[in-house]
Amino acid sequence: MRIILYTGKGGVGKTSVAAATALKASRSGKKVLVMSTDPAHSLSDAFDAKVGPEPKEMASGLYAQEMDPSSMMEEYWAEIQNYVTAVFEWQGTTDVAADELAMLPGMDELFGLLTVRRHRREGLYDALILDAAPTGETLKLLSLPDQMSWYVDKILPIQRRIASIARPLARRTRSLPPLPEDSVFAAGQRFYDALSEVEDILTDRKNASIRLVTNAEKMVIAEARRAYTYLNLYDYGVDAVIVNRLLPETVSDPYFSRWLEAQTEHLQTIEESFSPLPILKARLFDREMYGLEALSALSEDVFGDVDPLEMLYEGEAHSIVKNGDGYEVILNLPFVEKANLDLSKRGAELLVRIGGYKRNVLLPDSMARLSASGAKVEGNQLKVRLHE
Ligand SMILES: Nc1ncnc2c1ncn2[C@@H]1O[C@H](COP(=O)(O)OP(=O)(O)OP(=O)(O)O)[C@@H](O)[C@H]1O
Ligand SMILES: [Mg+2]
Repeated sequence: MRIILYTGKGGVGKTSVAAATALKASRSGKKVLVMSTDPAHSLSDAFDAKVGPEPKEMASGLYAQEMDPSSMMEEYWAEIQNYVTAVFEWQGTTDVAADELAMLPGMDELFGLLTVRRHRREGLYDALILDAAPTGETLKLLSLPDQMSWYVDKILPIQRRIASIARPLARRTRSLPPLPEDSVFAAGQRFYDALSEVEDILTDRKNASIRLVTNAEKMVIAEARRAYTYLNLYDYGVDAVIVNRLLPETVSDPYFSRWLEAQTEHLQTIEESFSPLPILKARLFDREMYGLEALSALSEDVFGDVDPLEMLYEGEAHSIVKNGDGYEVILNLPFVEKANLDLSKRGAELLVRIGGYKRNVLLPDSMARLSASGAKVEGNQLKVRLHE
């Protein structure tokens, strides 16, 4: 099953583009489900028709679903929540507040992602299009299995053992916090296993890709670039960038001339940051994009003759690997000539200029303090060394 996840800063057009992708694919005869994992569902708005918690046919071959996290809460979180609530209550937090606190932010979306497993197992659709929450939230979720694995493999078994020894003792005294029952550990493990499976599905580059949606605006691009770096780090495959809401060149009103100028510059930055990933573009339409007709127009703008389900790019524009006591940033370039290479680094930003060609990488925050100490060319790759 082909899986495509759209993410990007709030309001850039993720939901619209996800729905448009699904619509165009369904019109070429594929059975497609578009699902929102974002708790602030808006697929109903995009389709201008009610979408429910179970897949609903919106047009021939096109299904939509807005996740209802409550059933999954029961399955994966109830046990853990009961325990966390007990700890809060032991501390003197009142019932209602304890219930609220035990539900971590971002959980809704997490449960949404777990639904991906179900659809993959059931295999009812040719493609699953995911309309995810804004970048920051989604990234946190996508990096969770990686971050949890150390804890789950190393710490959880020890804690579980200690808890089983200490529990009888703790029961007899009110001065210790309630210790988790073994079922809490089991629930934690089950939850982690489910999450890892979702990670495996989404990092499987043969079938799954992430697409970054952006606008030609400074802050929005910065977020997309950061997201791209982190997605590469966690090994998610990004196969395209979609620049939505571009002012058409035909807009001649002088009021917009500065906007148009800035847009040209921003498109240049997008090129430098993501090339050789394909960069698809859609104009700012003269209306809001809801309903099948509007989504169809949007899908033509974004994809034209391109099959929206195609794997649009394999590999990555850049990646970062550990190398001895430093790191190496590897840039995949269509051509490299070492002759006139110019490297500079400003904080977390690495700028590479080769002749008239510029590349621009936003590094993870932890690498901002490192310095770039030289570069070497190997085949079509430029490798830049970073160290303390
Ligand atoms: N190319 C476009 N031209 C005109 N309007 C657009 C275009 N793309 C999206 N819109 C409109 O912009 C609004 C926001 O779009 P959308 O809901 O798809 O963004 P989003 O990224 O999903 O937002 P959120 O982060 O809130 O989920 C909607 O009203 C939508 O109809
Ligand atoms: Mg949305």
